[in-house]
Amino acid sequence: MPASPPPRTYRVKSFGCQMNVYDGERMAELLTAQGIAPAPAGEEADLVVLNTCHIREKAAEKVYSDIGRIVKDWRRKDGTAPLIAVAGCVAQAEGEEIMARAPAVGIVVGPQAYHRLPALIADAVQGKRAVDTDMPAEMKFGALPARRKVGPSAFLTVQEGCDKFCTYCVVPYTRGAEVSRPFSDLVDEAQRLVDAGAREITLLGQNVNAWRDGAGRGLERLIEALAQLPGLARIRYTTSHPNDMTEGLIEAHRDVGKLMPFLHLPVQSGSDRVLRAMNRSHSVASYLAVLERVRAVRPDIALSGDFIVGFPGETEAEFADTVRLVEAVGYAQCFSFKYSPRPGTPAATMPDQIAPAVMDERLQRLQAALNVGQLAFNQASLGKRCAVLVERKGKLPGQWLGKSPWLQSVHFTADVGIGDLVEVELIEAGANSLAGRLL
Ligand code: 5AD
Ligand code: SF4
Repeated sequence: MPASPPPRTYRVKSFGCQMNVYDGERMAELLTAQGIAPAPAGEEADLVVLNTCHIREKAAEKVYSDIGRIVKDWRRKDGTAPLIAVAGCVAQAEGEEIMARAPAVGIVVGPQAYHRLPALIADAVQGKRAVDTDMPAEMKFGALPARRKVGPSAFLTVQEGCDKFCTYCVVPYTRGAEVSRPFSDLVDEAQRLVDAGAREITLLGQNVNAWRDGAGRGLERLIEALAQLPGLARIRYTTSHPNDMTEGLIEAHRDVGKLMPFLHLPVQSGSDRVLRAMNRSHSVASYLAVLERVRAVRPDIALSGDFIVGFPGETEAEFADTVRLVEAVGYAQCFSFKYSPRPGTPAATMPDQIAPAVMDERLQRLQAALNVGQLAFNQASLGKRCAVLVERKGKLPGQWLGKSPWLQSVHFTADVGIGDLVEVELIEAGANSLAGRLL
């Protein structure tokens, strides 16, 4: 790679989960603090950061088609090619391979090392391609600049990594072991987010409900502390593992008014045999028992989950158990995926991989069942009066979009502004959104 002038503008493109969105925002803040400016809309940047996702094959391959497009179409103002940095979980998983496969890439930086971007950029400018996929013991967060400007609904990563080793999943390899950030750092960052305009904070972690600090405090203690921040109206958290759903956290759904009535608790399958093969370490019955406890303290809780269809060896009868579970729970919204074999995971080499056509058909049936549930949940909300946090303008003149406490998208027409928390009556329900009327 030839030496090139230092980048003056950047663009960060994040793919995948909300933790990547958070990391993307932090990288943008770091670059801004280095004197590199966000590229104006419609203008190509000198530095492009692709913040990638490795969870399924399709997501992981996307990075290479994006690189191809940038190489072909993008030019800096001076006509030279932009500097391309690959960050995120593909960077962590593939490291040097990316350099070999994509000669246009100047920087590869993993999710635990992106605080070192300034040094990596300095190397790249001198023509030295650099890979940094270390997982340094010191946490990157201390090395990042403070939060300045955020929207009304902000993310805060409190925990990273995973020790669960589900047999299909790359996360324990790409994000490393479970690590919790210290309590006081998180309260400080939350305060900064509120000062910067946040009214709602979503606490993020691959196993957010496994968050625990050195003093043994669990996530509910952190939620209680954040609930004391004046100006912060709403708290959410995602994503959780059924086995880490403690009594204390469940009770927080009853006791902490600012904690929203929404729980994303992935189950993946409705078959105990498949759950064992997935190494999920919970059963259908133990999962349902957790939901029952949550519903006992917070009857209006909106439930959400993740599902994988076509895990190796999944029979038609086992798949039917998943559909039955979906119908029994009555989810408010869910994510569902076709199983994707990931290199290095135990499931990738299991016998009886399911044919793509079978997976397609199962996914369609599962999503049909999920849609029925979602529409029913939204219809059951009709006539309710609730607070909506206004997040952005809608498509029609005077229309605004926001979220209900149950994380439903609500649109309505009124004279309000972004960040307002307004009382609305829910008057029309579709599968994906509701119409409201300002009270
Ligand atoms: N194939 C398909 N879906 C997967 N997920 C994780 N790994 C895979 C995979 N190999 C899904 C799980 C998880 C969500 C984030 O992504 O449902 O909860
Ligand atoms: Fe992946 Fe399982 Fe860990 Fe979730 S709990 S990140 S699915 S290994």
